[in-house]
Amino acid sequence: LAACSSGADPAAYPEDDIDIIVPFSAGGPTDTVTRMIAEPMSQELGVQLVVQNVDGAGGTVGAGQAATAEPDGYTVLMHHIGMSTAPALYDDLAYDPIADFKPVGLVTEVPMTIVGSSDFEPTTFEEFVSHVQENADTVTMAHAGEGSASNLCGLLLMDALGVEVTAVPYDGTGPAMAELVGGQVDFMCDQTTNTTGQIEAGEVKAYAVTTPERIEALPDLPTTAEGGQPGIEVSVWHGLYVPAETPDEVVTELTDALQVALADQTVVDQMADLGTAPVAADQATPEAHATLLQEQTETWGDIIGAGQGG
Ligand code: MLT
Repeated sequence: LAACSSGADPAAYPEDDIDIIVPFSAGGPTDTVTRMIAEPMSQELGVQLVVQNVDGAGGTVGAGQAATAEPDGYTVLMHHIGMSTAPALYDDLAYDPIADFKPVGLVTEVPMTIVGSSDFEPTTFEEFVSHVQENADTVTMAHAGEGSASNLCGLLLMDALGVEVTAVPYDGTGPAMAELVGGQVDFMCDQTTNTTGQIEAGEVKAYAVTTPERIEALPDLPTTAEGGQPGIEVSVWHGLYVPAETPDEVVTELTDALQVALADQTVVDQMADLGTAPVAADQATPEAHATLLQEQTETWGDIIGAGQGG
């Protein structure tokens, strides 16, 4: 971990490297987006943002570690919609996503795709739906643990199809993708930042995208709504966080560096190639991030709570 800087002087911040926690395995979509922005943020801040993959339990282990880190600006968390869903999925969550953190700003909102191993029988999305409904007891679905976006999409999918398939958890959808390509698991709902390359390379079958409209990066991929399943609609918003007691002047330094990174043409191009885009500058702010986090935590609390008969 980067040198601890307890007792650091906020006015001189940053003086040391900064740890940025990714709560999922290396090589997955959250890791990919983090490494895209870490480079230009490091240049802007004049120190190195050091990515630390702290995986497990659908992102809640890494988020929990960030919540209790020194509030000196030298530990930042990259997390996504799972920040809002975890409280409804875990009775004993070690952190409060709102009380224990300060939002730094939103980063990107990533579409999801339903993809299958190349030897999974269905070819079209309609065939996928009927195959899963008729063979739910033998079909396997990969995800990155309770609280992950791939798990959330899986819950929406099983609810829409009215079936329970065997869910296979991984510490991130980086390793899950390796097993999907290898045919060890049948399908997965995962972010375009992890699936676009494999779809274009023909390593996996692509069935649908979970956005209301088709996306530019995968123009031939129909939406779930086109396939008769409008209920499977979710995009994965990502944001940066610091521990709640972190001084505001430190947050401002990080927000400013984030905004520079999101305007960096290399970042814009890399995100476009992977089916996503930086948020607008007015969304890469603590205020916009706090508003979305509050609203999403309430919304998913209601949806998941209802789904659990809560
Ligand atoms: C998720 O499903 O939440 C992500 O795919 C996890 C990851 O980035 O690996």
